[in-house]
Amino acid sequence: MNVDSHLAALFSLEGRVAVVTGGSSGIGRAIAESLARAGAGVVLVARGEAGLVAAVEEMTAEGLRAAWVSADLGERDGVRAAAERAVEAFGEPDILVNSAGINLRPPMGELGEDVWDTTMSVNLEAPYLLGRRFGPGMAERGFGRIVHVSSQQAHRAFVNSGAYGVSKGALEALARSQAEAWSPYGVTCNTLVPGFVMTPLNERLSSDPAKVRELAERTMVGRNGLAEDFAGAAVFLASGASGYVTGQTLFVDGGFSVH
Ligand SMILES: NC(=O)c1ccc[n+]([C@@H]2O[C@H](COP(=O)([O-])OP(=O)(O)OC[C@H]3O[C@@H](n4cnc5c(N)ncnc54)[C@H](OP(=O)(O)O)[C@@H]3O)[C@@H](O)[C@H]2O)c1
Repeated sequence: MNVDSHLAALFSLEGRVAVVTGGSSGIGRAIAESLARAGAGVVLVARGEAGLVAAVEEMTAEGLRAAWVSADLGERDGVRAAAERAVEAFGEPDILVNSAGINLRPPMGELGEDVWDTTMSVNLEAPYLLGRRFGPGMAERGFGRIVHVSSQQAHRAFVNSGAYGVSKGALEALARSQAEAWSPYGVTCNTLVPGFVMTPLNERLSSDPAKVRELAERTMVGRNGLAEDFAGAAVFLASGASGYVTGQTLFVDGGFSVH
């Protein structure tokens, strides 16, 4: 067997269909591109149409298979509508990546019910509802990959973690519950855990050079994360190669969490 066929047997996503929430920006966009380059047809879900169109145009110009659905994952009806429209492009997904997320950071004493509810809806409830919609079908077909994007704030308090850290801690527990339910049927469920990644999500922190330097020094690699750092780990967790890896949290954080 030559190198190409060995790598294809392990990691190729040819013929697979993926839904990537948050696929129009940052980590989700890098993951969507990477899955498509590995052969999957990818449906990007987010609210803003301009970002979705730009991402899909760039991908299709590269010869990749991509489509988009605009929906608000902060509303139950929005999630349901997104799921139904997402299957129109390439059919039922084999891979679900939940990267859409929000990080609102009021101090704990000022954290209102609105911020709590919105955070839980987008970061936790949407991944649960999408898993419930797609997981059983994956199990019936005997193959599936669910990948959540959590945060180091699931593991430590950090810059007003507030509701955000709670939602991400629960998201990792959701991955374990889903893994318990569906792994016997070929559906693995895992979580990618970013450290500090330079994306629009944390523009406020990343516009402070001293803070950026300080955070980079807390890693072992010596730099902050880039969205592209998730490309390989996402393909691994979406591919046949990770069939015996389930219920796990994979930190892609340059060693931040163990330093
Ligand atoms: N960047 C970091 O340092 C970091 C660290 C730890 C964890 N994470 C996690 O990584 C994931 C991706 O973050 P990122 O840094 O790539 O952020 P980002 O660049 O801000 O991207 C967030 C994505 O989520 C979508 N989104 C947000 N609210 C939505 C809603 N209500 N309905 C549908 N889509 C929605 C956004 O599109 P629209 O706004 O157009 O809807 C966008 O596509 C998040 O779950 C985040 O919590 C990031």
